[in-house]
Amino acid sequence: MFVSRRISAAGLDRLVGLADVDVWPDDLPPPREELLRRVAGLDGLLCMTTERIDDELLERAGPRLKVVSNYGVGYDHIDVAACTRRGVAVGNTPGVLTETTADFAFALLLAAARRVAEGHDFVREGRWKTWSPVLLNGPDVHHATLGIVGFGRIGQEVAKRGRGFDMQVLYHARHAASAADEARLGARRARLDDVLAQSDFLSLHVPLSPETRHLINRETLARMKRSAILVNASRGPVVDSDALYDALKDGTIAAAALDVSEPEPLPVDHKLLGLPNCLVVPHIASASFATRDRMATIAADNLLAGLQQAPLPAFVNPEIYASRT
Ligand code: DGY
Repeated sequence: MFVSRRISAAGLDRLVGLADVDVWPDDLPPPREELLRRVAGLDGLLCMTTERIDDELLERAGPRLKVVSNYGVGYDHIDVAACTRRGVAVGNTPGVLTETTADFAFALLLAAARRVAEGHDFVREGRWKTWSPVLLNGPDVHHATLGIVGFGRIGQEVAKRGRGFDMQVLYHARHAASAADEARLGARRARLDDVLAQSDFLSLHVPLSPETRHLINRETLARMKRSAILVNASRGPVVDSDALYDALKDGTIAAAALDVSEPEPLPVDHKLLGLPNCLVVPHIASASFATRDRMATIAADNLLAGLQQAPLPAFVNPEIYASRT
């Protein structure tokens, strides 16, 4: 089996000794050609969001491949249909990173509103000369309206945090949450247009799919308040970077805080990084010590189950075993 990066011992220790494990030793992901070389004849692959799992790779792996275990909850980089056609089980790591990711989305929201990164730069650049009534003012978070697009596990946890700040919570999702969850979270479902128009903060929590690619574009940005702050801790391509740049530059919206970007990684000379009202961090929303251990554990358990052709603890395509008696 091949593990495409060093994951924490909580996961690796479960694999070592049980199977023949090849772990990619670098911090950077294996280059595509190297990945294709390593998967040839493989029975199991533990990968991350940086590896594209497509027909070409599955072809190269060959018929022995039983399982692709993703270290992460989002699996837009995996062609699940192609895996299913070949009887390859796909696993991911839902649940264990929900609160950690929601904490971070809220950290981005607070940081962008209260201009934490700008303040830090201001001090480090030696520009802090005195206390000032007009220095780095920003909008209040408490009692503002929080719009959440995508109301799955993470979106709902963000709502809970918003409620702790006495925010009004609106959400847009294909499926309504239960009445009990709406009451518990103090959240109201609304049409996307209404969420865009009414939110002081808009936080994105949808998976990347053809429907959500560039969901935030010139038109949707134009429907937001000029004072609004956009938070993206979902997937970079949910937001059209060029449209966002123009919106931040011309004041269509006030600010953005991005854990993910398109492209990813964002090159250091990318125009978004030249804007003071755009905070960008390197896709770290789930990066707490404990959560990364839990992700490693589930990813390892998914891999081991798949190798035995047993149901994966977190199974993306359980239908592959449906025909078995
Ligand atoms: C996730 O879990 O989806 C993270 O974004 C890492 O891929």
